[in-house]
Amino acid sequence: MNGPISTLFLLAAVNSTCLAQTVPQPYRSFFTQFVDNRSLPEKALNTIGLTGKDIGRSFALIVGVSSYPNLPAAHQDLSAARADVRQLQVYLQTQEFFDEVVVLKDKDVNYETLRYFLEIYFPERLKAFPRSRFLFAYSGHGITDSTQSFLLLSQARNLNDKQNAINVSIVRNLVGNVVDAGHQVLVLLNACYGGTFLSRSFAPTLYIPRNPGAHAITAGGTNERTWHDPALGNGSVFFEKLFAGLGGLADSAPVRRDGSRGDGVISYEELASYLTQEIRIFTDQRQNPKAGDISRNGSGDGGFFFLNRGRQLKAGVVTDWNSNRAIAFGETFTDGNFIKGKAVFEDSGCVGCHMADSDEKKLGPGLLSLFKRPRMNDGTPVTKENVKAKINSGGNGMPPYGELLSEAEKDLIVFFLSKR
Ligand code: HEC
Repeated sequence: MNGPISTLFLLAAVNSTCLAQTVPQPYRSFFTQFVDNRSLPEKALNTIGLTGKDIGRSFALIVGVSSYPNLPAAHQDLSAARADVRQLQVYLQTQEFFDEVVVLKDKDVNYETLRYFLEIYFPERLKAFPRSRFLFAYSGHGITDSTQSFLLLSQARNLNDKQNAINVSIVRNLVGNVVDAGHQVLVLLNACYGGTFLSRSFAPTLYIPRNPGAHAITAGGTNERTWHDPALGNGSVFFEKLFAGLGGLADSAPVRRDGSRGDGVISYEELASYLTQEIRIFTDQRQNPKAGDISRNGSGDGGFFFLNRGRQLKAGVVTDWNSNRAIAFGETFTDGNFIKGKAVFEDSGCVGCHMADSDEKKLGPGLLSLFKRPRMNDGTPVTKENVKAKINSGGNGMPPYGELLSEAEKDLIVFFLSKR
């Protein structure tokens, strides 16, 4: 059994045992991953000349507000933020070997939950496991009153509702607790006007993956809105470009004599320079990401890093990420659930192993005519119930998605596949 898959099996069992003693009841349900994955990145790190001893654990807090029921209709559903959260969660758990992932969504995003995780829980975990990585990511509406910026909470009643918003400088202070306790910290902030998160600007320095550092990258500047473009994918421009960069495009250093680039790890600095350039060009300079140091005394030459998935893919450590995500020319189904189902299918990593527009085999069978076949490989008849059961429990090389997707998301995938 290979790495990413075994972590999914462990999830349910570990969740109920270890977690119970440390985390108070209301906060337990926010964990989508709770395992000790440290043996897994070893294989990946070996490909870049480091060993497992060089890293502690990997922790993430993903925060997204996509549902704003009290706002005017045009602003109620921020579907790009929902896609960002889902894609990042699946990505960190299946591709980057994160040990603990906490996801806060919609009405669970408030000062109390943020405070618990950023001021109490994660600082303790980071102290208990030296040399760890911590990632904080936010996607949702941001607002400004021209001097300050705010992240808009799900309860907001209008786009100036500061009562139902959190000041970005308060989030910055809360993140400070993690920065002080952590080894390598990265903040990714995708909200309009999120640029105020940063006080200092970005100064490029040499990168050494063993050294500590804390940085932030915001999707746009202090006075800028941030964008979503369906041509790029279901998520925001910022996160779609992030995933493209992590696929290998951002692995730009070092440059070798023969012109080839990259070393298998994508440092904060490589990522920052990739995202700033790419997004500036893509949005015609309407959105200009900002990147900078958020540590108390300066990060020096260290910082957060991701593994270059392009390399890991070649080495057989991970599977492909959204390879055929664009909606094909001439796609005839305008049914909303079809498009939604296709989006979940792509964002959940199914496309890494299955083609939905062909019967050709990738890692798993092609699914174009699944519902025209009498039986699946495991012998069970092709019915909506059985296909959903397969998604839930996986098997024979397919990871189980029972815990990773909601019932509604699974139903959407099944609907999408049944209409191929
Ligand atoms: C890591 C690779 C991998 C990923 C990711 C993956 N699958 Fe699979 N899947 C497989 C393999 C391998 C099989 C064949 C299993 C077997 O022969 O029983 C399979 C089988 C299936 C089948 C049964 C097909 C048949 O004809 O037997 C369905 C349906 C399916 N997958 C759907 C999905 C969906 C939906 C997702 C995303 C939520 C997904 N898979 C993600 C590898 C994967």
